[in-house]
Amino acid sequence: MNTALVIVAAGSGQRLGSSFPKAFVGLAGKPLLRHALEQAASWHIPHSVVVVVPEGWVEPARALAQGLVLPVTVVVGGDTRTASVRQGLQALPEGATRVLIHDAARPLMTPSVFDRVHSALEAGSAAVIPVVPVVDTLVTRDSTTGATEGGVDRDALVGVQTPQGFDAGLLLAAYESVTGEFTDDAEVMRSAGHSVDSVEGESAGFKITYPQDLERAASLLGHSHTPLVGFAMDVHAFDDESPLYLAGLVWPGEKGLSGHSDGDVVIHAIVDAVLQAASLGDLGHHFGSDRAEFAGAPSSVFVEHTRGLLLEAGLVISSVGVQVVGNSPKLASRRLEAEQHLTTLVGAPVSLSATTTDGLGFTGRGEGIAAVANVVLRRATDH
Ligand code: CTP
Ligand code: MG
Repeated sequence: MNTALVIVAAGSGQRLGSSFPKAFVGLAGKPLLRHALEQAASWHIPHSVVVVVPEGWVEPARALAQGLVLPVTVVVGGDTRTASVRQGLQALPEGATRVLIHDAARPLMTPSVFDRVHSALEAGSAAVIPVVPVVDTLVTRDSTTGATEGGVDRDALVGVQTPQGFDAGLLLAAYESVTGEFTDDAEVMRSAGHSVDSVEGESAGFKITYPQDLERAASLLGHSHTPLVGFAMDVHAFDDESPLYLAGLVWPGEKGLSGHSDGDVVIHAIVDAVLQAASLGDLGHHFGSDRAEFAGAPSSVFVEHTRGLLLEAGLVISSVGVQVVGNSPKLASRRLEAEQHLTTLVGAPVSLSATTTDGLGFTGRGEGIAAVANVVLRRATDH
């Protein structure tokens, strides 16, 4: 194999603001580095891979390469990108005559760009970079005063991406001949006196730098990280015949509520809000009075059933808030107990509050109880 791919993944991702290295941050259910490795594995030109990671991340990186038909070597990088590339080049396999250097931070770069870079090397380029047109108007700016000057010829300027391709021997020699830091490897080649050719890049191959880049990449992959939110209410009339079930607790001495099941408005509002957030219909659809198996059932059964539906849909409850509206019972004395009970039942933090309606409406007249719930869901694969 005479082509090698160096994936630089040793940056910390300061601008992304993650607590661990950027290459290990999740996108659409898998770390950026896994995206890069899958990209490499699906590239049809046979090649070996050197992955450069921060100290302490060699094993996690190896684990991410598992299951891929790809010869991968993992090495530790340095404090700067230039230092990391140097480490990667030290680990190039014997016989590599062409090397592509690629940022792990470009998960959507397409195989056609890898192809174009590789073809240019085959055609004799010593160095080649993928470039994209600049779409915004460009000006120069005085960083002290903020004053700007126009007249920049945009047509003469392009943005530079990776993978950048090189004659391996010339790149190694260039890195040996220069000192200092460079923003990319083509600049190292220019410093060593080589000219650098260009091929067309791809706007999809943008670099993940800020949190909004991650969000953009997720939505391009059809996988938004935006949480799903649901809101619902439930109402039941008082029924002197039955005990009161509210928030999953029994309330001795309090008037009960009528209803197909145990009439627990708090749980019903939560379940309805969850179903709404997940776009899975509503309470009536899943547990309506036409479903004889739920007649007289404790409402906890609704929650268990709904959690099963969420699991199938790949969704997880992040948090729940419920407000009980009514004159009685007074929730304050059992609020913590109810919150704990519901939190266990739902599998996510539930917060409970209560209000009266100043004597107005059916709750004010003491005819029944209402509950309103809001729910936040996230995708099970989000990190
Ligand atoms: N990189 C590296 N070693 C470094 C710094 C950067 O291997 N010491 C890699 C990054 O992992 C990334 C690529 O170079 O794949 C481009 O760098 P950049 O986007 O700047 O990533 P970070 O340096 O991680 O981000 P930041 O500058 O926000 O800290
Ligand atoms: Mg950086």
